[in-house]
Amino acid sequence: MTQRIAVITGGSRGIGLAAAHELGRKGFSLVIVGQHEPRVDQAVSELVSFGVEAVPIVVDVADSEVVMRELGEHPLAQDAEVLVTCAGVMSEKMAKTLRTSAAEWDRVMGVNLNGTFNAISAIAPAMVQRRSGRIITVSACLGRFSGPGLAGGLAPYRISKAGVNALTKNLAAELGSGTRGILVDAMCPNHTRTDMGGPDAPRSPQESADTIVWLATREHTADIVTGVLWEDRQIVPW
Ligand SMILES: NC(=O)c1ccc[n+]([C@@H]2O[C@H](COP(=O)([O-])OP(=O)(O)OC[C@H]3O[C@@H](n4cnc5c(N)ncnc54)[C@H](OP(=O)(O)O)[C@@H]3O)[C@@H](O)[C@H]2O)c1
Repeated sequence: MTQRIAVITGGSRGIGLAAAHELGRKGFSLVIVGQHEPRVDQAVSELVSFGVEAVPIVVDVADSEVVMRELGEHPLAQDAEVLVTCAGVMSEKMAKTLRTSAAEWDRVMGVNLNGTFNAISAIAPAMVQRRSGRIITVSACLGRFSGPGLAGGLAPYRISKAGVNALTKNLAAELGSGTRGILVDAMCPNHTRTDMGGPDAPRSPQESADTIVWLATREHTADIVTGVLWEDRQIVPW
């Protein structure tokens, strides 16, 4: 049986770690990417203790050179069937556009949008060559042009996630909208109990990871829909 590999940025905590556990239970070997070595190592030990094969990669996803080196030259990562870009940071609570410093803008864009681009740039070319792969970008409802999105405030966060949505839709089109073996989709986890979401959020990380795992493992049929935004396994408007 061939080894199935998933790379998960932001896999050391929260929603990414919950997705890692579930993909591990389904037989995937995992490459866990995070920024802080102790947390990444702890997540990997936890997964290994459950019998999951997992390796750590410690990088700042905002650093394109380092990401390209660490992920782009890692044999396991290069064989990945699934890439989940889950690494993300929230912006300062008062970060309305005109109250956002250039440093805060760059920090949030660097991780959320550039980090997504960097991870995809390092992993997707091998998928394209094999004509097989799935890319799942973890976005946010706050980045939608409809519904609860782009209603003001948290400007760098909302706009970075709107950018993630645009990147996802554009890339899916460039890769033939599923016709060339690659599925590219964005998903909104909704307000979730993690370090980012806080202890009072209504959803568990496991509930939020469900759509990620479903996108990573759904059957690739001829009429499959990809290049869209998902929430609870349903398509929602961008
Ligand atoms: N929680 C929510 O309510 C919610 C709602 C909508 C969307 N989301 C999105 O869901 C994703 C996961 O959120 P979460 O709530 O699980 O967040 P979290 O618990 O705060 O975890 C964030 C993850 O991102 C990693 N990370 C942050 N900055 C990084 C960097 N520069 N380089 C590499 N890794 C980095 C962290 O790694 P370390 O452990 O090494 O720091 C950690 O694994 C994010 O993209 C977030 O925007 C969350």
